[in-house]
This record gives sequence, structure tokens and C-alpha cells, in this order.
Amino acid sequence: MPDFRRNNRPNNNRFCPNRDKDRRENSKAECYTLRIEKMVQGGEGMARLEDGRVCFVAGALPGELCKVRLTFQKKDFTKGRVVEVIEASPDRVKPHCPLYGKCGGCSLQHLASEKQAEYLEKVERENFRRLAHAELPADFVIHTGNAWGYRNRARVVFRKAPEGRATFGFRGEESNNVIPFENCPVLTDALNAFLHGPAATLLSGVSNSGSNGRRDFQRSRDIDVNLFDNGKGEISFYYPGMHKSEFDAHAVSVVEIAGRKIEADASVFFQSNLGLLPELVESVRKAVDEGLASGMSTDDWLIDLFSGVGFFACILQDKFKKITTVERDEGCLKHARINLDERTLGNGRVVENVSAPAEDWLLENVVDIPATLIVDPPRTGLPKEALNAIVKSSVKRLIYVSCDPVTLARDFSKFVEAGFALSHAEGFAFYPQTPHLEMMFVLDR
Ligand SMILES: C[S@@+](CC[C@H](N)C(=O)[O-])C[C@H]1O[C@@H](n2cnc3c(N)ncnc32)[C@H](O)[C@@H]1O
Repeated sequence: MPDFRRNNRPNNNRFCPNRDKDRRENSKAECYTLRIEKMVQGGEGMARLEDGRVCFVAGALPGELCKVRLTFQKKDFTKGRVVEVIEASPDRVKPHCPLYGKCGGCSLQHLASEKQAEYLEKVERENFRRLAHAELPADFVIHTGNAWGYRNRARVVFRKAPEGRATFGFRGEESNNVIPFENCPVLTDALNAFLHGPAATLLSGVSNSGSNGRRDFQRSRDIDVNLFDNGKGEISFYYPGMHKSEFDAHAVSVVEIAGRKIEADASVFFQSNLGLLPELVESVRKAVDEGLASGMSTDDWLIDLFSGVGFFACILQDKFKKITTVERDEGCLKHARINLDERTLGNGRVVENVSAPAEDWLLENVVDIPATLIVDPPRTGLPKEALNAIVKSSVKRLIYVSCDPVTLARDFSKFVEAGFALSHAEGFAFYPQTPHLEMMFVLDR
């Protein structure tokens, strides 16, 4: 098996003052015995050193007494990793995957799967108190699905071995090293089977071909490949430089969710947990229906901002006279135009799939009716201009789907200052064994 652990980042040996200073600081690997107070955003345990500094401890659970090696030190906080658990939490379990602590993913495997939502709920309640000075509603729930084998999208690095067969691994989160794996227990069975079967043949074929896109793979030993399982065991894949004919044959896919067929491809954003996705769809539908029934919003216009391939608009299309999706990635737009085509929607419905940053579209278009508005921004949350434009619009009900509770809390407090209030909140554990959580907020004014 080739050695994946070499750091193959360009300019790896260049002097970098900050990085090298941090390394010097952190090379003094001090160990402390610490009592873990609580879990914080990101899944680490929080403890305090004797000098009062906070220590964020990877691999520790609330209540535990741990021997901790410091891995990072600053004036006001430190980071560490558990080297020994002296008193274990009753919720601690042996990590299931041999790559726990190595591959950069699934950092919550030491916590029993059936307890993860409960811990994350506590973290989010505190997160909102601290960042938004607000309480999550008493009926806030986190929807959970399969703890393993749930993930239908992944980026895997393929390396062409000297004997011609490609092997694969994950790129480490910080180091960029590649960590090989045999089976990843959070990937769907179909993705693991693809990696051991057709992938090797398809991608070693790629490296031997002479067509345009394929030459890229020949030049470099490693190639990042996006994989997508459409839920029926059909795997599509994409790698940079892929030739158009190969893209059309192997990258494009159709997913069926809540009775809708939605086209996407392995190069663009799509939700990663198809098993739990119908519950998010149901919650969004319910929030939309309640808005329409109460008069908070109108069926004249659905605006789906950060719309990807038009996912939310697709599942809601039958309820509205006019639909606008706004997405800045042309790759997504291509599919949105197929997923939401006026000619096939019928009933005189008007559809516009707009290629633009959401903030630009909001500045150029007056939303002067109480349209139904859904936003699903990336982790960075809403751009300031987008948030201000929503506040100035006539929208009375906003459905905010978020993949980062920290930026959601930030944006939420700005909406509250502008007169919105939280009507409903739900969490979705789309990434079991990790601290990531998807949230849906319904804001009304
Ligand atoms: C979290 S994804 C949501 C996609 C879609 N709602 C779905 O469920 O499949 C965020 C999307 O926002 C797009 N995006 C990021 N920044 C944007 C911006 N400023 N304006 C419009 N789209 C943006 C990304 O390309 C991505 O498709």
C-alpha cells in the first residue's frame, strides 16, 4: 500500500512565522489531570487549568477526570487531547472505527450513539444563551436517524499504486495528509462497496486514458474524487478535470425524496443524509403550510435563497404561483433549471432560477409582499447585506435552515433586534458520530 501519510501540500517546507512559533510553543507537551465541566460547540470537553485558562479537550466527556496533554496554548485558552481517562463517564464507549482520532472525522465516537443528540441539545441550548442571549424553545427536539452507514456523499482521495491499482483514503482535516481506510463505517454500504469494486476499475482506467480531462489524473498521483450515492445504490462520481462525456455518464444523478425526483451531480452541493432528509422536508413543509394558513405568508411567491439544485423549491413547488430560486454556483443552476421547469410544472406557474449571490439579488429585487422565504446559507451564515435586505422587505415569516448553529445564533440575534421572534426550532442530527448539527428556525414578525 502506498504511503499516504506524507504531507503533499505545495510549499510545505517554506518558513511560516506564525505556524513555526505555534509549533515551538506547542512542542512543550505538558500533561495535566483535569475534571471536564461540560461539552462545548465542536464536541470537546471543557476544563480549567489551575491558572484559570480554559482547556478544550478532544475526546473527553462531561464529568470525566482525564490526563490531558496540551496540544496548543494561547494567553487566554488552551487545547488538549485525552491521554488517559482516570474516571470515565457512563456514556463513554469504545470507538467503533480503527481510524478514530486519525482521519479527522467522527470525533464523537467515544460517546454512545444513543446519547449524542441529548449532549448536542445541551450544547445548543447553552450556545444560544451565550451567543444570542435567548432560550431555545422547551419543545426543541433533535431528529435522529441511523447512527452508522448514513452518509451518502464523501470526498475520497485516490492514489494510483505502482502496480496500477488505485487505493483510497480521506484527506486529514488540518494536515492535508491522506489517511487510507478499508471501510468507512459512516458511509453507506453502497459507497463502501463502490470503493472496493467499480471505483478501482473506473479510476485506474481513467489514469491510463489519453483524453483531455483524464490527463490531469495521469499527471498527479493523488486525485480528490467526490462520490454520491443517490439512495438507490447508484453511485455517481466527479473529479476536477473530468471530461464532459465522462461527466455526463458518471457524475449526474437523480434522487427521489418525498415523492419528487431531483437531479444533481457529484460536483455540487446536495444534502448528505438521505435517510433523515425526509424529516427535514416534512418540518419545512409544515412551517410553510402554517405560514400560509395563518396569513403570515402568501402562496403568491416562494423565494428559495442559497437554493443549490432547487431542493426546497422542488419539494414545495405545488403550493406556489411563482417560484424564485437564487444560487451563485452555475453547476447547481444547471440542475435547478431542469428540476424546476415552467413547462413541466404547468398550471401557469412562473419559475425563475437566478444565477447570482443571494445578497445581490435581494438588493436588486423588491420583496414587497409577504412572500414565503426560505434561506439555507453555507456555514458562514447570511451575508450582512442579505440579512438587512430581508429585514427591510415585507417578509413576515422566514424559514432559516442552517448547517452551523454558531452563525445561526449570530444571525438570529440580529433578526430579533429587527423585530422577528422565534416561533419554532428543530435540530437534525445529519452527521452522527460528529458534533455537527443541522437546524431549522421559523422566525415571524
Ligand atoms: C447549504 S447549501 C444549501 C443548498 C440547498 N438549499 C439544498 O438544500 O440542497 C448552500 C448553497 O448556497 C450556495 N451559496 C453560497 N454562498 C452563496 C451566496 N452568497 N449566494 C447564493 N448562493 C450561495 C452554495 O453554492 C450552496 O449551493
